[in-house]
Amino acid sequence: MVTKRSHVGEIEDPHLGGTFVVSNSPIFDSSGNFVGTVHISREITELRNLRERVIHSERMAALGELAARVAHEIRNPLISIGGFARRLEKKLSGDIQEYAKIIVNEVSRLENILKEILGFVKTARINKCRVDINELMNEIADFIVPTMDEKDNAILREFSDDTLIAVIDPDKIKEAIINIFTNAAHATEHGTLTVRTWQEHDEAVIELVDTGHGIKEEDLKNIFNPFFTTKSQGTGLGLAVTHNIVQEHNGKIKVDSTWGRGTAFRIYLPLDTP
Ligand SMILES: Nc1ncnc2c1ncn2[C@@H]1O[C@H](COP(=O)(O)OP(=O)(O)O)[C@@H](O)[C@H]1O
Ligand SMILES: [Mg+2]
Repeated sequence: MVTKRSHVGEIEDPHLGGTFVVSNSPIFDSSGNFVGTVHISREITELRNLRERVIHSERMAALGELAARVAHEIRNPLISIGGFARRLEKKLSGDIQEYAKIIVNEVSRLENILKEILGFVKTARINKCRVDINELMNEIADFIVPTMDEKDNAILREFSDDTLIAVIDPDKIKEAIINIFTNAAHATEHGTLTVRTWQEHDEAVIELVDTGHGIKEEDLKNIFNPFFTTKSQGTGLGLAVTHNIVQEHNGKIKVDSTWGRGTAFRIYLPLDTP
């Protein structure tokens, strides 16, 4: 009104909780007298969120490409360091053998980190087929038993009596579930990990419940974010990978956790309906 000129701008309104494009235009009568203004506001919160998401995913894609290249370049020399250290470990004795063993162990830790990074950035095609969920979970549970034994944890299996068939990529779902198991094994000592499956409407539900230390309320919203970790040697990529895999299968993942009590993850996958 002071300048009698039009103005268009984007504003953030904390009271309405959104972003608006606001345009203010002066109105003049036929003899050029200023008689008022027209204000038009349009809410563009969705558009702004979308814009931010696009920028974010472009940045992630560029970062991912870089990470994949670096991981790839580091992997080959690392494999030969590991190979030669293992040979030294066999030939040496005493203190020096211990040193070689440390190299071997640290190299395998680095290899695991690279595997997680590559698992996060690579976009391998998914190969779906009809899979018996109970059979798959049995196989994964068998595979994880030695890791569970290390900390005196027991695995309990409570599978649905009905056969649950879903059209999934078994290798990818296995990876997704092993990430959850691995975290449960990290968090739990002298406890149990219960694996359950059941049918809910037209979905198969896979539940993994541990009796470990649980997740703090304030951390819960972050656990699926890439690079979020509470571990000194964590990559924070495990659950991000799991989340991506479940999404690629049009599934859902939910988590319930009580600090000091334990954690439950539930994965929902669409059943194959004939
Ligand atoms: N079963 C669990 N019990 C307790 N904390 C968990 C569990 N699963 C995940 N978390 C928390 O979520 C974080 C992210 O997990 P993840 O993405 O696998 O990364 P990382 O294992 O490398 O830390 C962990 O650092 C941990 O704080
Ligand atoms: Mg993990």
